[in-house]
Amino acid sequence: MKARVIKRLRSASSPLFMTGAGISAESGLPTFRGKDGLWRGASPEELATPQAFGRDPLRVWQWYDWRRGLISRVSPTAAHMAMAGFRTRAGREVPVITQNVDGLHQSAGSSHVLELHGSIWRLRCVRCGVEVQDRVTGLSEVPLCECGGLLRPAVVWFGELLPEDVFSEALELARGSDFVMVVGTSGVVQPAASLVNIAREGNAFIVEVNPEETCLGRLADISFHEAAGDIVAELLQV
Ligand code: OAD
Repeated sequence: MKARVIKRLRSASSPLFMTGAGISAESGLPTFRGKDGLWRGASPEELATPQAFGRDPLRVWQWYDWRRGLISRVSPTAAHMAMAGFRTRAGREVPVITQNVDGLHQSAGSSHVLELHGSIWRLRCVRCGVEVQDRVTGLSEVPLCECGGLLRPAVVWFGELLPEDVFSEALELARGSDFVMVVGTSGVVQPAASLVNIAREGNAFIVEVNPEETCLGRLADISFHEAAGDIVAELLQV
């Protein structure tokens, strides 16, 4: 099975990586729907919404601040590193479409990363819309913009649209891909998960890596029910 995947990948002209929280799990970051996914008893669906921020911005910020603290203390996993180091047969880097906001693909050295759900390291003013980079952790109050407006994490919350330019590039890549490796996503959040369907409709060969069965399994040509760390590096042979 592994040999078949390696062969397909080596002959692919437009491979693509798609990732979710599971690729970062072995670095020590909890996934959203795993056993440590709740924060003070609240789920992402309760905290990652404009309504939650409108009601209690400090509570939402405390959750993000906690996550930013965790992320700032971890390193990319072997799977992040393998993706960053892999080159296509034409010598090109493989684009990564990720739902993650942790920035670990970039820390591993990937330069073509499409962040469907934004970045936890960017803040956006809810009043004037300006965006700033920010890596400070240990917040005691809600950060403010120079204009006086509240700053929020520049991530996509439930009920919000994905950044249009990022999603349209992701769509184009999914349509044109002949090999997709999907790693560490439960596949339940749309429209991110629909990209796997779109690639499948375009006849891409789909490989899934996830220790658990997911709803993406039926789209995959091959599923490896394993943690990403070892198997991704093995399949990418870097
Ligand atoms: P989930 O928490 O829904 O799913 C993580 C997946 O990773 C699960 O299917 C796990 O089985 C798998 N997993 C766990 N450990 C793994 C490992 N070592 N190697 C490989 N896979 C592993 O996370 P996402 O699918 O990324 O959105 O969630 C999608 C979105 O829901 C997130 O981007 C976030 C969240 O709410 C927003 O905040 C908008």
